[in-house]
Amino acid sequence: STTHRIAVIPGDGIGPEVVAEAEKVLEAACVPAGIALEKKSFPLGAEHWLATGQTLPEETLEEIRDQDAILFGAVGAAPGDTRIPSGLIERDILLKLRFSLDHYVNLRPSELFPGTVSPLRDPGEVDFVVVREGTEGPYAGNGGVLRQGTDQEIATEVSLNTAHGVRRLVRFAFELANSRERKKLTLVHKHNVLVNAGHLYQRTVNAMAAEYPDVTVDYLHVDAVTIFMTTDPSRFDVLVTDNLFGDIITDLAGAITGGIGLAPCGNINADRTAPSMFEPVHGSAPDIAGQQKANPVATILAGAMMLEHLGHPEQAEQIRGAVRHDLEVNGVQARSTAKIGDAIVAALQA
Ligand code: NAD
Ligand code: IPM
Ligand code: MN
Repeated sequence: STTHRIAVIPGDGIGPEVVAEAEKVLEAACVPAGIALEKKSFPLGAEHWLATGQTLPEETLEEIRDQDAILFGAVGAAPGDTRIPSGLIERDILLKLRFSLDHYVNLRPSELFPGTVSPLRDPGEVDFVVVREGTEGPYAGNGGVLRQGTDQEIATEVSLNTAHGVRRLVRFAFELANSRERKKLTLVHKHNVLVNAGHLYQRTVNAMAAEYPDVTVDYLHVDAVTIFMTTDPSRFDVLVTDNLFGDIITDLAGAITGGIGLAPCGNINADRTAPSMFEPVHGSAPDIAGQQKANPVATILAGAMMLEHLGHPEQAEQIRGAVRHDLEVNGVQARSTAKIGDAIVAALQA
């Protein structure tokens, strides 16, 4: 039998509710296969900060680094919560984990499952993956404020993009596109305005394309992507893009494929120098927290991505199959978070 050590970070809001269901489903998939998950829970998030003044202390980060993978719920306070400085929890926990553990690929698959309802009238077959950069771009924390509070205030966030960072991301995207049926790669940027970073991305894609003669490559400005994602999403296969653009278009991708509650995310360190982290695309959803209203499917599918990453594609596919089955039979009818988790466990065991 195989044992994997898993750091579990439930976090804030609906995080603990959706993570509990993912843990149930993971157990149901792993136990019969002789896979043991040795879990260690870390109580990080807004409440923890309020109680202790700690976000992610160095020794906790090192303990997490020592695990094989991380299952993450969501962190972040409600927008109106004045006790907590805006973004502190997200930056000091979530972004700190992504940056410290070198999660340079933020992998976000979007699939329109049968039984789910897209807000688009005629979405067609939707099955694409966004390969979002995870450790650079405008998220790098570069910039500052001059003359704060005055009429002459100047606020900057400087996007950081390195040849190394772009190359390893684009390499991953080409490999992924090459492994898929349609073998299509779309670079998404805004190189008509962001000429420096945009051209670095474009040059990197152009140079690598020769190594992948079977992959069809194209380019779209990010604003145009929002058009095609709503009018013709079936045109996409693999999209590769920078950190901020990837954040924005994956919320849209979640919405068109039946809701953000279905969209999973893998924060991948593809060199395996540190544990990768799996989470839903969505946040802590303070508006529905504690009411068993959250859809746990995104986190359950993130659990499947985790098993695949840990070398268990068969169990990952079993989980996806159970999710598909449950959506087909029960659709998106309102059920409690736990009922959805239970139904997926039942489908897995059927
Ligand atoms: P959000 O994703 O939390 O919520 C947006 C909307 O989607 C809300 O109406 C919410 O109820 C709904 N929603 C989200 N997940 C759902 C689910 N599983 N089932 C059903 N409905 C769901 O985004 P937001 O409101 O912009 O952010 C709330 C907090 O979460 C903020 O503090 C933000 O910074 C944080 N956040 C954290 C993460 C993360 O930890 N990875 C990601 C995004 C946002
Ligand atoms: C996400 C979130 C995060 C991001 C925030 C909470 C920092 O929106 O995971 O998509 O912008 O990456
Ligand atoms: Mn986001």
